[in-house]
Amino acid sequence: MNKTLTLLREHNLLREIDDELDIYLEIPHVAYIEVKKPTSQALLFTNVVDKKNNKKFDEPILMNVFCSPKAVELLIGDGDAIASEISSLLKMKPPSGFRDKISMFNRLFNLKSVFPKRDKGRGECQEFVKLADEAKLSDLPVLTTWEQDGGPFITMGQVYTQSLDGNMKNLGMYRLQVYDDNTLGMHWQIHKDSNHFFHEYKKAGKKMPVSIGIGGDPMYIWCGQAPLPIGVFELLLYGFVKKENARLVKSITNDIYIPRDVDYVIEGFVDVENLKIEGPFGDHTGYYTLQEEYPFMKVSAITHKKDPMFAATVVGKPPLEDKYMGHATERIFLPLLQTTVPDLIDYYMPENGVFHNLIIAKIKTFYPGHAQQSMHAFWGVGQMSFVKHAIFVNADAPELNDHSAISEYILNRIDINDLMISRGVVDALDHSSPKFAVGGKLGIDCTGEVIDDLHVNIIDNHLLLEKMQDISLHVKDLKQYHIYTQNPICVISVEKQSCQKELFEALKPLYEHIKILVIVDEKNNYLDNEYMLLWRVVNNIDATRDLYFADNCMAVDATNKNEYDGFNRRWPDDVSCTPSVIASLKQRHIIDIDDKFEKEFLL
Ligand SMILES: Cc1cc2nc3c(=O)[nH]c(=O)nc-3n(C[C@H](O)[C@H](O)[C@H](O)COP(=O)(O)O)c2cc1C
Repeated sequence: MNKTLTLLREHNLLREIDDELDIYLEIPHVAYIEVKKPTSQALLFTNVVDKKNNKKFDEPILMNVFCSPKAVELLIGDGDAIASEISSLLKMKPPSGFRDKISMFNRLFNLKSVFPKRDKGRGECQEFVKLADEAKLSDLPVLTTWEQDGGPFITMGQVYTQSLDGNMKNLGMYRLQVYDDNTLGMHWQIHKDSNHFFHEYKKAGKKMPVSIGIGGDPMYIWCGQAPLPIGVFELLLYGFVKKENARLVKSITNDIYIPRDVDYVIEGFVDVENLKIEGPFGDHTGYYTLQEEYPFMKVSAITHKKDPMFAATVVGKPPLEDKYMGHATERIFLPLLQTTVPDLIDYYMPENGVFHNLIIAKIKTFYPGHAQQSMHAFWGVGQMSFVKHAIFVNADAPELNDHSAISEYILNRIDINDLMISRGVVDALDHSSPKFAVGGKLGIDCTGEVIDDLHVNIIDNHLLLEKMQDISLHVKDLKQYHIYTQNPICVISVEKQSCQKELFEALKPLYEHIKILVIVDEKNNYLDNEYMLLWRVVNNIDATRDLYFADNCMAVDATNKNEYDGFNRRWPDDVSCTPSVIASLKQRHIIDIDDKFEKEFLL
């Protein structure tokens, strides 16, 4: 980790904060605000306390290590360059079926002889060893990020697991809830690799060994979040990108090998018979994840380096450091996706679409239905299957991250009578789907020509709002976007008193003025904040339930769902900062933000 600090310092990407700050809310709030700034830096908190338990920690906490594109380039490399290296290797012999693809990964990594090396003896991460009752999770400065969180969570844990026969290894980045001094929750979601291993151990009735690394080379954590298929050990990616083998040592109390240079290792065994309620936790969707049952580990050892540093991240509403991590991942996976969708030119997952809530993909189309065929392919590939809303554009479309140009291109081509609405796997974190982990999918084919002009009679915002309020006083505000395209968008905020389909039907006399009507709740939404509106809409809708069509008009109901909508799950709250913590940090001059900033990011 010291190398990381030096690198960040050399590039003016690190700030030390010596003020005394609490692991409960304060430190995460400072990091949350910092990483939203265009000039954001990594933060090293050197004066860390646990006020509630009257405790001071010796170790500093490092946060926002992936604070900017520059930091990612320094710590991971140039995503485009790595992608083109992968691409040229893949061109040697493209894989056919799924099995071939797995062996393709292994071949890819084998080419560079990048298999992790196992060293004998102890690693630096094992300079200090605490076993059994001596190994206490409360000795670590584990953060509680949000006030509704179910407790403290390790947020940058590298979770190392292996299959029952030991042949397959995995590194996954999952959050880990601290329940007590030696019980740690394992939030590997239902679709994730460690969960598959867990079921093997459960079936065999054997306890599952797990070791968790914290710190060391930040590349470990980046590899841990990379969506590689089961059976491909993420440390191969480490070796491939770094051009040097990861060096591993054996854990002290189980058989799992972990990188020798991580700052901490938490070792233990997962109980396969019992589960614990995990959460709530303010997640990267910007909402609290609902409580669910998850496995937990009993800690058998905690080891660390001589002068360890504790690594953590903060997740919540975008933008956060997963924006920068995610972008590098997106670049590197382009050539791999192209093996499944050969006509794919590029794709883009904007962070305010919380990655899998929105994808825009550019393809070379050759025949009718080509875009739909590619959408199905995406929905069939590993974690891409979580994508809820897919918009496909043709080769002549502008750059996908040129927001204004691509929005115009898309809106000139959406045919609302030709949308693909389907169902399938969604992310375990999705809160809008009627059922856990299964929900609606929307595919929009914008690869065709500009659609015919439907002569929407656009009128002024105030006048249209007045007309709407003549019909329903529950409509509170209105703003129109992209009025010069074939699909102008009219966003309204409402005080919800019924299912919004009724409102849409009541607005029928105004359909001549509307093409796409987007409805959000009045509370917690600002109609002039396009970035957070997109975040809200793609989070809150389920395509099978929330799209209404009538007379060449379409409504997108992005309000919070409840009994009016026949919604039976619990709708979670937004993740928001605690006002008293913000006020205190401001008063102590630790943060300096104004109302505009708070509104811009819906703090
Ligand atoms: C900041 C951050 C936190 C994450 N937390 C979790 C988590 O708690 N549970 C989970 O299943 N995935 C989580 N993920 C996503 C996984 O790391 C990602 O899906 C990874 O590919 C899983 O690896 P696996 O397929 O080897 O299981 C997180 C990703 C990031 C960037």
